[in-house]
Amino acid sequence: MEKKIILTGDRPTGKLHIGHYIGSLKNRVKLQNSGEYLPYIMIADTQALTDNARNPEKIRNSLIQVALDYLAVGLDPEKSVIFIQSQIPALFELTAYYMDLVTVARLERNPTVKTEIKQKGFNDSIPVGFLNYPVSQAADITAFKANLVPVGDDQEPMIEQAREIVRTFNRVYDCDVLVEPEGYFPEEGQGRLPGLDGNAKMSKSLGNAIYLSDNAKTVQEKVMSMYTDPGHIHVEDPGKVEGNTVFTYLDVFAPDQDKVAELKEQYQKGGLGDVKIKRYLNEVLEEELEPIRARRAKYAQDEDAIYEMLQEGSKKANKAANATLEEARDAIGLNYFKR
Ligand code: TRP
Repeated sequence: MEKKIILTGDRPTGKLHIGHYIGSLKNRVKLQNSGEYLPYIMIADTQALTDNARNPEKIRNSLIQVALDYLAVGLDPEKSVIFIQSQIPALFELTAYYMDLVTVARLERNPTVKTEIKQKGFNDSIPVGFLNYPVSQAADITAFKANLVPVGDDQEPMIEQAREIVRTFNRVYDCDVLVEPEGYFPEEGQGRLPGLDGNAKMSKSLGNAIYLSDNAKTVQEKVMSMYTDPGHIHVEDPGKVEGNTVFTYLDVFAPDQDKVAELKEQYQKGGLGDVKIKRYLNEVLEEELEPIRARRAKYAQDEDAIYEMLQEGSKKANKAANATLEEARDAIGLNYFKR
């Protein structure tokens, strides 16, 4: 049976954290190991530049960190093609053709772009490349004829826009060159891990994240500092479980959910201290993070090998993307010298 194709990626703007792990990386490893897919995993450095053009060192430094995080969680260059966006010229040419099929108004309506524009405080100074990144993302997806795109919930509008571009392209140029992708989203409740401080989102900029590269002591300190129930002052006080970040993490990470249910009951009645539940969470997290950390440390010893792996992956990715580009050019009629 022909393998289905997966494409997904991350912007290299920092190390990856346990929110990325739960929201996306874990799924990718599962899909990779099922043997039913050929995953293309892209480090989206050019997309990261759309709002970091004046700070390229940040992207350059983060690239290797993201690659290490990938290998650490179990993405395997023998089973997945791991590559770098900026090294695939076909993506930019496809982007150019798609840009002619999308209106500015449509981009301005993209809800994720809208939110990001506000968050980043662009006001009237939105870089053209930033506004256009959903189009470039459609090129990323379609260049590999991806069937499935595993991403976080916030990327749903990008998939929708890519699907629209596929339909428009195939209709306008009367062809079936492009493949309509489907999103693959996290299970209910696994999509968004709140920050350590209880903020709805775990993120680098909010300083409320546990990184896959954090050592055991740092993880422990972070867990001990976590937001719980501010009304739960004495051990014997009844405590709240809803909105209590420690329990939210236990819901997601603890293998023994019966135990979590018991702890919740005890906590709500009163008599269970925050330190106890935090210690348990720390144990649970260590179970998951220790092997990742060990693999990461091993790979980090040989950075040259990582760049070699990325170069190999980029070669394979170029082959696939160039083939699609040629078909797209033919469909548009830009094949003057093929006679
Ligand atoms: N926008 C994605 C993010 O911020 C990264 C990305 C770039 C991507 N191109 C992609 C994801 C293509 C899936 C498919 O995380």
